[in-house]
Amino acid sequence: MISSLGSCGYSRSHRSTNSNIMTYVIYILLVILHNILFNGVTAATHSVSTYKRASLVLNQLITSSTLEWEPYRNVPKQLEFAIQGSIFKTEEEHYPIYICRVNMDGVFRSGFTEKRAQKHVCMVAYLNTIKPYKQFDVLVNKGKLGRVSWKKWKRYEDTPDGAVSVNDYTFVARHRVKDEDRKDGSEYDMGRLEVNSNNNGKIYVTDSSSNEHHYMEGEVLAEVEPFKYELSDIELDKLRTDIKHNVTELASTVLSNTEGEPGAIKSLLTYKYDKTQYWGNQDGLVRALPTKIYEHGINEVSDIAWALRSSSRHEETKEISSYLQPGTAINVTLVGNVTTLEAPYTARLMTHYNDFEKISTKISATVYKKFLGGIRLEFSPTYWIENGTIIPTTTTTTTTTTESVKQATKDANPILSPPTVMMTDFSTSPKSSSVETNEVTEDEVTKQNFAANLAQANILGGSNSAPTKMSSSLAVLLFALIVLSSTYLNC
Ligand SMILES: *[C@@H]1O[C@H](CO)[C@@H](O)[C@H](O)[C@H]1NC(C)=O
Ligand SMILES: *[C@@H]1O[C@H](CO)[C@@H](O)[C@H](O)[C@H]1NC(C)=O
Ligand SMILES: *[C@@H]1O[C@H](CO)[C@@H](O)[C@H](O)[C@H]1NC(C)=O
Ligand SMILES: *[C@@H]1O[C@H](CO)[C@@H](O)[C@H](O)[C@H]1NC(C)=O
Repeated sequence: MISSLGSCGYSRSHRSTNSNIMTYVIYILLVILHNILFNGVTAATHSVSTYKRASLVLNQLITSSTLEWEPYRNVPKQLEFAIQGSIFKTEEEHYPIYICRVNMDGVFRSGFTEKRAQKHVCMVAYLNTIKPYKQFDVLVNKGKLGRVSWKKWKRYEDTPDGAVSVNDYTFVARHRVKDEDRKDGSEYDMGRLEVNSNNNGKIYVTDSSSNEHHYMEGEVLAEVEPFKYELSDIELDKLRTDIKHNVTELASTVLSNTEGEPGAIKSLLTYKYDKTQYWGNQDGLVRALPTKIYEHGINEVSDIAWALRSSSRHEETKEISSYLQPGTAINVTLVGNVTTLEAPYTARLMTHYNDFEKISTKISATVYKKFLGGIRLEFSPTYWIENGTIIPTTTTTTTTTTESVKQATKDANPILSPPTVMMTDFSTSPKSSSVETNEVTEDEVTKQNFAANLAQANILGGSNSAPTKMSSSLAVLLFALIVLSSTYLNC
């Protein structure tokens, strides 16, 4: 969007037809001026350049994302999005006048369209004559999302920001026809603003009798730049959605109790993951414009640069803890469900302009996303640190009645407890989204661990079988509460 370019097919070849020495000198001066003012990078053939005042001394032409010079094809649909300069109105006829340009010996010159026998021609004034051209480019609003306005201009004022350039020193302009001069026809005389090194140019227009006039004031066509987009009401094409899951190991650790006492062993597991999203593009949208993405069911609003792949690195730390007997250990692994999604979608795009106006449009494009779809804990049975032998454990019975708990307490064997590993959010990097929804404060973590440990001490007895995996600390807390309350009520 900021790619700077100067000449739009501007030819530096010397004009042999130049008879007027003065014109030639001015031409040379303008070429020098051009080289001082603009970075002379040739633009794509049909891109539109607009004026940008970069600083007091440096001005440049930048490529418009929303406007385009399109070769005229004499199909009515093309002119639907053409930029109007004025309206031609007589008793018999009524039609819009569009902005056009013609390539004359390598230099583009602007003009205005005129209807002749159901066709448009481009009228261009050059060297005191005005001539119709059948081959020309017409200025169009590509995706209908560009906005233009005619900005008032006076001599000695800077060229308006966003002014649509025809060549390096010429911009599209018009001048209002005085009411007393207007008979039939157009409200405006179309023409151009020509600036010189001191920025004190003139507006040249052609009147209804094909005579050229110049003025010290008038109106200059300027593109109004949007400053942000908002994408909402996103509907994925479910049939054409391609979703892939890759379950990968994020981090792992060994929790081991090397002390003489049973206790809760804690460890911090930190892992990193990348979140990538690309929402595609559509003609006429401004690349890299700040965009907010509002997705269904996702509280967090993403900020991206439009039409660019945005990647962010996230880091999260989980606290893992388990109650372990002396000399025992447990292996813990954090597993992530890395999900990639590619899907065509439709959405509502709200375009915000600097003049506080907004335009809402429907767009369709393809989205690509890569994110961490979920995480879970995997852990080994408890084993002896000394010889690695797995310790046979009990399983938590699904029917934890008061009686079975009491029974368990009686047959207490401190070693035969099934492993329960807890995971709590410890810290997350500022920009990351929390995967686990049950965020807890440190105080709560301690309480939960305490409750879980108490619960562990009480769940004993029953038959030996495979260890149960519990990934949700909430479930543990709930269970602990049941056990605690039943224990206290019955003793
Ligand atoms: C899954 O992820 C791992 C590590 O990120 C990678 O090496 C592997 O190629 C991925 N597999 C697939 C099928 O994408
Ligand atoms: C990964 O997450 C998706 C939903 O996001 C789920 O359908 C899928 O079963 C998960 N896969 C694994 C192995 O957890
Ligand atoms: C625990 O992890 C170690 C390596 O860190 C491995 O040698 C051992 O077999 C694992 N034990 C169990 C019970 O998975
Ligand atoms: C492993 O070590 C523990 C603790 O020292 C011991 O009780 C157990 O019998 C050992 N197991 C084997 C198979 O050596």
